[in-house]
Amino acid sequence: MRAAVVNGFGGPERVEIAEVPVPVPAAGQIRIRVHAAGVNPVDGAVRSGVFGGEGQRLGLGWDVAGEIDEVGPGVSGWEAGQRVVGLQYGPVKPLGTHAEYAVLDASAVAVAPASVDAAAAAALPLSGLTAARAVDLLGLAPGSSVLVTGAAGVVGGLAVQLAVRAGLKVTALAGAEDEGLVRSLGAAGFVPRGTAPAGPVDGVLDAAVLGEPALSFVRDGGVYVGLRPHAAPAAERGIRVEEQEVAPDGAHLARLVSLVDSGELTLRVADTVPLADAAGAHARLAAGGLRGRLVLTVA
Ligand SMILES: NC(=O)c1ccc[n+]([C@@H]2O[C@H](COP(=O)([O-])OP(=O)(O)OC[C@H]3O[C@@H](n4cnc5c(N)ncnc54)[C@H](OP(=O)(O)O)[C@@H]3O)[C@@H](O)[C@H]2O)c1
Repeated sequence: MRAAVVNGFGGPERVEIAEVPVPVPAAGQIRIRVHAAGVNPVDGAVRSGVFGGEGQRLGLGWDVAGEIDEVGPGVSGWEAGQRVVGLQYGPVKPLGTHAEYAVLDASAVAVAPASVDAAAAAALPLSGLTAARAVDLLGLAPGSSVLVTGAAGVVGGLAVQLAVRAGLKVTALAGAEDEGLVRSLGAAGFVPRGTAPAGPVDGVLDAAVLGEPALSFVRDGGVYVGLRPHAAPAAERGIRVEEQEVAPDGAHLARLVSLVDSGELTLRVADTVPLADAAGAHARLAAGGLRGRLVLTVA
């Protein structure tokens, strides 16, 4: 089968399409025939060597939407032919989801949303689980104020929707040209990129990874949730500082799928790109300015 891999660190040009053996599901795992797979910032980080793995062939891709092709020993409740979504965690792994087939732990998958196509479904797992857990980490009571930075991005946009759903008063920080977009996702307030909110907020969900400047927007005793593990700014003024690190969770993913199907969570796809041009997708992601997830499709 074909899979996107890197055999050395560097820019998007290091992404190759390799011919590799079809992976075999072990006990507790399922194999998915990949239909679509999101390209996330973490894929660029793996490619450029942020997580190490020098000298190894590294697979790319964490998000997947597709159809179960084979079920490993000891797996119950799943069968070939079911359409699923899943998160294959792993910064350093020989094969990822940017491939014709992917093997995942059965506990990491959920039945795919029925209301959207595979490309949109492939935008859900990593970003949806991240946004949902980040909103949970805020731990704020309904009516509290939260500022979401990077609100026009994929995680930020989902976080805006989930925070509104949790009853929070959401202000979005994004580029001026994105005000209409973030308001359409439910943000009541708007702060143009490069400026500060009018007053302190109860919490900041820092999807733009601004760090200290974003912490400075939080009131004394409030909460800051960072999305870059082990890199959050130091706590000050009694602010609780939390760090979100995504983990596979099929049950939680299933709850997010329900929100997609009930129309309460909107997924955004910037564009679809054939697997064969994975390197081109990396280049577009690295260039910035995308609105929605770039998704690889596998014919
Ligand atoms: N810890 C975890 O579990 C976890 C999981 C998933 C993602 N992440 C991280 O979360 C971040 C967001 O991911 P994503 O998939 O949502 O990426 P994305 O779709 O590219 O969104 C990032 C957004 O932030 C905006 N932005 C960048 N710099 C900004 C600034 N100075 N002020 C305001 N907005 C700014 C970007 O705008 P432009 O495109 O115009 O620059 C973009 O809209 C990434 O750093 C990613 O690595 C962490």
